[in-house]
Amino acid sequence: MIYKKLGRTGEKIPAIGMGTWKLGANPEDEIHAIREGIRLGMNFVDTAEMYHTEQIVGEALKGQDDVFVATKVSPDHLRYKDVIKACDQSLKTMGIKTIDLYQIHWPNPNIPISQTMQAMERLVKEGKIRHIGVSNFLPEELVEAQEAMKSNEIVSNQVEYSVLARDIEKELLQICTKAGITVIAYSPLARGSVYNGKDKAFSILDKIAKKHNKTIAQVSLSWVIEKEDVIAIPKTASPDHMAENASASEFKLDKEDLEQIDSIRTGFMPISRRLNRFTKRTSILWSKLMEKRESLRKFKI
Ligand SMILES: NC(=O)c1ccc[n+]([C@@H]2O[C@H](COP(=O)([O-])OP(=O)(O)OC[C@H]3O[C@@H](n4cnc5c(N)ncnc54)[C@H](OP(=O)(O)O)[C@@H]3O)[C@@H](O)[C@H]2O)c1
Repeated sequence: MIYKKLGRTGEKIPAIGMGTWKLGANPEDEIHAIREGIRLGMNFVDTAEMYHTEQIVGEALKGQDDVFVATKVSPDHLRYKDVIKACDQSLKTMGIKTIDLYQIHWPNPNIPISQTMQAMERLVKEGKIRHIGVSNFLPEELVEAQEAMKSNEIVSNQVEYSVLARDIEKELLQICTKAGITVIAYSPLARGSVYNGKDKAFSILDKIAKKHNKTIAQVSLSWVIEKEDVIAIPKTASPDHMAENASASEFKLDKEDLEQIDSIRTGFMPISRRLNRFTKRTSILWSKLMEKRESLRKFKI
């Protein structure tokens, strides 16, 4: 497994972690699969109160050391008191004392972000969470959330990214990379669609997979994590797929492969098209973000 920086914290996380959305059909097998993933070095587990998989994650964590736990607060729980309550509930459900990364699942325009970020900072102070992250945030939402904080940096933005879903390349990826915000790529296998063997994308992926004696899933994951400061969190309930996914970090695509994959254009529909935007204000938004982040750093020294 290769490791990447978590934001600007100096902490390292695996380039391939585990997603848990839609687990729950066979908890025993899934717990076994998560433990297998941990054993193979994917010691980053992503869940959310909304997924109803925190209990399975909590079970899988029993007796395991050194697992990085990421969960999320739902968009309807972003008022100050609700954030605190949701966090307490997640800790209780998973049976743990600290969440490593607490993420805002989706922004909610009806709740002032300052309320949410103040609550997040309180949770850090109380030791209930270690790091603050967001998910599905646009560049200007990142700026607002960062500006609302008094002493913490946003360490990550979890967004959809795969060979078939490239919206963040328009602007967001660049801003996050330059600001030192880790991109956690969700649905990195396009929810299984990388295996839809009909179109040109499939034949490109299939050819590259055969060339390296790897699977299409491994090629797809390798492409995602080849980007600086991007990690991937594929979901699988199968121990075999878990092993496949874990070893995707152990080979590298060559220049020709990367060019061919970069040329893929499909009609694949991402979960949301909100990240498919280019504001033409990239450098202004980045500067604003950095101004606040650097001032927090000075304050800490
Ligand atoms: N923040 C957000 O708003 C948000 C939104 C969506 C997802 N997420 C997070 O991202 C995680 C991953 O995304 P996702 O679950 O949407 O989709 P995904 O990881 O892109 O794809 C999951 C699908 O791929 C299959 N799969 C996994 N490994 C495979 C392999 N090696 N070979 C063949 N098939 C394989 C899985 O089936 P098997 O189980 O049979 O292997 C499943 O059907 C989620 O679980 C969740 O934690 C976050």
